[in-house]
Amino acid sequence: MAVTADPARQAALDILSAALGRKAGLESALEDPSVAGLAPQDRAFARALVMATLRHLGPIDALLAPRLQRDPPEPVRMILRLGATQLFWLDTPSYAAVNSSVALAQANRATRPFKALVNAVLRRLDRDGPPAADPAALAPSWLFARWRASFGEAETLRLAAVIAEEPATDLTPRDPADADTLCGALEAAALPGGSLRRAGRGRIEDWPGFAEGRWWVQDAAAAIPARLLGVGPDESALDLCAAPGGKALQLAAAGARVVALDRSAARLKRLVEALARTGLSAETIVAEAETWADHRVFDAVLLDAPCSSSGTFRRNPDVLWTLRPGDIAKLASVQTRLLDAAARRVKPGGRLVYCVCSLEREEGEAQAAAFLKRHGDFETAPIAPGEAGSPAPSVAAEGWLRILPHHLEGGLDGFFVARFARRPSVLAATPAAG
Ligand SMILES: C[S@@+](CC[C@H](N)C(=O)[O-])C[C@H]1O[C@@H](n2cnc3c(N)ncnc32)[C@H](O)[C@@H]1O
Repeated sequence: MAVTADPARQAALDILSAALGRKAGLESALEDPSVAGLAPQDRAFARALVMATLRHLGPIDALLAPRLQRDPPEPVRMILRLGATQLFWLDTPSYAAVNSSVALAQANRATRPFKALVNAVLRRLDRDGPPAADPAALAPSWLFARWRASFGEAETLRLAAVIAEEPATDLTPRDPADADTLCGALEAAALPGGSLRRAGRGRIEDWPGFAEGRWWVQDAAAAIPARLLGVGPDESALDLCAAPGGKALQLAAAGARVVALDRSAARLKRLVEALARTGLSAETIVAEAETWADHRVFDAVLLDAPCSSSGTFRRNPDVLWTLRPGDIAKLASVQTRLLDAAARRVKPGGRLVYCVCSLEREEGEAQAAAFLKRHGDFETAPIAPGEAGSPAPSVAAEGWLRILPHHLEGGLDGFFVARFARRPSVLAATPAAG
């Protein structure tokens, strides 16, 4: 007799496999037409199941390892992971968690021979009960060890505990004067710096003020770097890695003449759409930052460089499990090149903000220190505690920010942010020789 798995759990299996297989990435797996075509409640359940699995993947794998005599095929492991999540982290009754997982194994040819194993392992897990909470188990051990070396044991346990928490949605209002009204309409809370935080779920496009372009989705930490540039209406600003565009929108909303550049036309299209929705304007350019054939220099330059994204685990928990140690060094060398390209675009007397949504020192502190060594005409423009919404504990002695996910109640993304000022032109200041 042919068995069909329920569509939500089948979709969860497909999404989880794509996200962890590094094939598609979580975001594009969630946008796949097979998922978009599900009934809304099935789509919501599939998403919740995958996200809860990824947020608890460390403890789940630790539970499964001693109960498996040898490594099962990957699709079987995925079904066991989804089953364990339903047993311990969703409200699914035990019998439904086990039976639906067995049905999922039965419905897929590659996993059918393992349905007895799925049944036995999940029943055993159910009998033995949930694991004790252990923040150290929430991240892969190599990343946890890196963070412990950078931030110490106590801070690392605090930041890792955030992995298990489901984040709220943060918004940036186009007009700061609209924040109070928006808080009322959205039942949102105002955060330091001007972001709004909303616990509600559902389609973002249906939330009050979206269609009128009164706000855009942007994590509270991600909104800090552009504010730190402090651009005014008579200034020019360049966003050198601009897509999908939250930070470029902030610069445009502050009234600057904005050039937003990105190498990805597809990603930049999202900025173009957001500009149309918000009624803001910026010149958008598809180009490589290092070789962009344009001679303009700017009062303010923002470099939000491509990075490991290890600080974004609250919304992209897959990043913890798909990142490889070798990726960090490769990204760091790209960041070095991009920083040099960004420096060339800063007017004498202008400023540069460098940021990455990474928790790794090679992408943050080490980049900033090496940049200052390479560019004698730049100095750090120190960031003050509380400035632009910077959490006080994130301000380092060097004047830059090391934002950790537990620095704000309810969490925020991990970021490194440094602000540099280019000295006014030496030629202009030095009297002519002779
Ligand atoms: C961290 S994302 C930027 C996010 C964006 N600032 C925002 O707030 O939405 C990094 C971006 O850098 C772009 N990028 C990577 N290498 C680049 C390069 N060499 N030149 C231009 N853009 C690049 C990527 O396409 C990606 O969109």
